[in-house]
Order: sequence, then structure tokens, then C-alpha cells
Amino acid sequence: MKVLLTGGTGYIGSHTAIELIKLGYEVEIMDNLFNSKIEVLDKIAEISGVKPKFYEVDLLDKDGMDKMFAEGDYDLVIHFAGLKAVGESVEKPLKYYENNVGGTINLLECMKKHGVNKIIFSSSATVYGDQGVAELTEDMQTGVGITNPYGRTKYMIEEILKDVAVANKEFEVTILRYFNPVGTHPSGLIGEDPNDIPNNLMPIIMKVSTGEIEKLKVYGDDYDTVDGTGVRDYIHVVDLAKGHVAAINKIKSGISIYNLGTGKGTSVLEMIAAFEKASGGKKLPYEVVERRAGDLAEICANPGRAERELGWKTELTIDDAMNDTINYLNHLKEK
Ligand code: NAD
Ligand code: UD1
Repeated sequence: MKVLLTGGTGYIGSHTAIELIKLGYEVEIMDNLFNSKIEVLDKIAEISGVKPKFYEVDLLDKDGMDKMFAEGDYDLVIHFAGLKAVGESVEKPLKYYENNVGGTINLLECMKKHGVNKIIFSSSATVYGDQGVAELTEDMQTGVGITNPYGRTKYMIEEILKDVAVANKEFEVTILRYFNPVGTHPSGLIGEDPNDIPNNLMPIIMKVSTGEIEKLKVYGDDYDTVDGTGVRDYIHVVDLAKGHVAAINKIKSGISIYNLGTGKGTSVLEMIAAFEKASGGKKLPYEVVERRAGDLAEICANPGRAERELGWKTELTIDDAMNDTINYLNHLKEK
């Protein structure tokens, strides 16, 4: 099977490429390299033994996309490409709607023109908004209480995909709602290496540990959680990558939606403690500050549907994620 990964040089796409290549899939990657580096292709080759064919194309470049699809003859697309900086999306909403929503429409038009009917889409737990409960299941209502344009692009794309699946009965769509991806490939060769200033917890912890950021700001310790700090469902990126393989195996006509998470929550202080343990006890400087606007106390996946229907569940732990992250940071230092 020949699979196109949009955004495939990015964090989650590159890890998924490796898992697919390992299982014998033919993988091609397109990316505009806005938030990733071309060297990732060599790392994928070093780890998997295969360097995927690469197109430097923008989702918004209709001619470039058309040419790629004409050459590619793909069986399935995994659609990772998108902008994901929540804070920036508040400042530049049109950029996010154009890139994420407009880009997806271009992609879907190209797929239709070239007879590609299968798509797996990278969505996010953010589409659930505030449900008033910590544990989230796929049939909950989405789209209400999303606090930023980034999150709304994910919701809008999900709705577009549902409409397209109604209009075209041959269309096979799987929406994967990721919880909080962390960790890196165990080789230490690839990981999360954002070109911009991160606003998610794990990349900030990494930058604090290297001294690029002075200290971690813990956004509030007065939530109704185990220790007062925010609780999230952190999923190792290799488990997440394997979730895509499971989704390919079970893709079917119409729309299928799956949470990809562990089902277990971890607090910010527990994340700090786990990182310190993996760094041999070295303290990570932090201070508690005000709550961040739009944050919820606790968010956790109910991953039952993915286990029942895809036969997939997570295998790796927070400690694995932290050990792999330290290994990756050591590799970056050696460069
Ligand atoms: P990433 O930024 O590392 O990868 C996304 C890739 O898409 C980048 O390489 C970027 O250059 C590319 N891209 C962006 N706009 C493009 C365009 N117009 N044309 C071509 N390429 C373009 O992000 P990631 O963490 O790997 O996330 C992958 C997907 O998963 C994204 O859609 C993201 O919104 C979604 N997601 C991520 C998280 C997370 O915490 N990492 C959580 C939920 C959902
Ligand atoms: C955030 C976004 C969400 C997006 C997701 C993945 C907000 C309000 N939500 O979710 O829309 O889908 O990232 O990109 O931005 N934390 C700190 N200090 C920090 C950073 C984070 O204490 O410097 C805490 C947060 O308060 C939270 C936890 O760490 O409790 C995880 O934060 P983060 O990594 O930003 O993910 P989400 O809040 O789940």
C-alpha cells in the first residue's frame, strides 16, 4: 500500500513514517518545511533503512499538489500538515483558517480528482471543549467551548470530513483525536524540534533543561486535581504512531472516530518529577504562576473504542517518554 503523509517531516508524521516503513508500507512525504527540517528524512532513513520520497509542497499550492498526486498514485493519505501554535492562532486567526481549513479543502479536492478515497486525519482532544468531566468519549458533542482558533480549525475540518463522507459513499475517513503526545523515538535521532517558541509543556521542559528557557512556569496549583496542577493524558509518540498503523488496517467507508490516549492522567508536578528522575535527579527550575486562560483542570481519554475496534492500546509509560527525551536531548547536544 502506498501512503502519502502530509506534514510527514514533522514530529508525529516522522515517527509514523518509521512505523509504516518497518511494516513494509511504501511511504511518501509532503511538507512545506515551515515547522520541520529536511534532515529528518535522513534520520528516517538511518532508523528504518528507507528514505521516503519527498515533495516540498504547500497544501495551498494547488498546482504543486496536483502534480504530486498525478505522480504519486496513492492508496491513502494521512493528513498531519497544519499549524498548531495555540497562542499564535489567537493573534493570527486568518492564517490558521487559511492554512489548516483551506489547505485541507485543497487536499480533499486533489484526492477526489485523483481517485484517492482513504484519509486519516490528525485531530485533537481540543475539539471536545469543556465537557465538565475529565474523561472524554468519542460520542460526546464537539465544537462547544473551544477556546482558540487552532482548536476550531480541528473541529471545522472534522465537520468538513463528515460532510464529504456523506456526499461520497466510497470515501473512507478516520479521525484520530490525539491527547498530549510526548517523548521521542528511542534511537534519540528524531523528536520534537519546533522552529518556533513552544507553548506546550513537554517542549518547554526540554528547553528549560537545556537552559534556553530559565524556568518552567507552572500554570496554577489550585485546581481540583491530585496536587492542584493541571492533569493531562500524555501519550508516547511511538504509541501514537502505531495507532495510525492500526487505523490503516481497519479503515472503512464512512466516518470513524477514535481517541488516541492512555486513559491515565498525569499532573504537571508529576511530569516534572518524572523528568528529574530520568535526568538522574537534576532539578528542573520552576515556579507556580497564575492559571493560563482557557486551561481545564483535567483532561483524559477514554481509549476503549480504539482498543475494541482497532486492537490498539498504549504500551509505553511516562518514564519511557522521559528517558527517550533525555536521550534525544543528548544527541542534539553532541551535534
Ligand atoms: P509539526 O508542526 O511537528 O508537524 C506538522 C507539519 O506540517 C510541519 O512539518 C509543517 O512544516 C507542516 N505544514 C504546516 N502547514 C503546511 C502546509 N500548508 N503545507 C505543507 N506542510 C505544512 O506538528 P505535529 O506535532 O507533528 O502535529 C501533526 C498534526 O497533529 C497537526 O495537524 C497537529 O495539529 C495535530 N496534533 C498535534 C498535537 C501535538 O500536541 N503535537 C496534538 C493534537 C493534534
Ligand atoms: C494545549 C492547547 C490545546 C492543544 C494542545 C496540543 C491551550 C489552552 N490548549 O493543550 O488547544 O490542542 O495544547 O497542542 O493552549 N503547562 C504549564 N506550563 C507551561 C505549559 C503548560 O504548567 O509552560 C501545563 C498546562 O497548564 C496544562 C499542561 O501543562 O495543565 C499541558 O499543557 P499543554 O502542553 O499546553 O497542553 P494542553 O493544555 O492539553
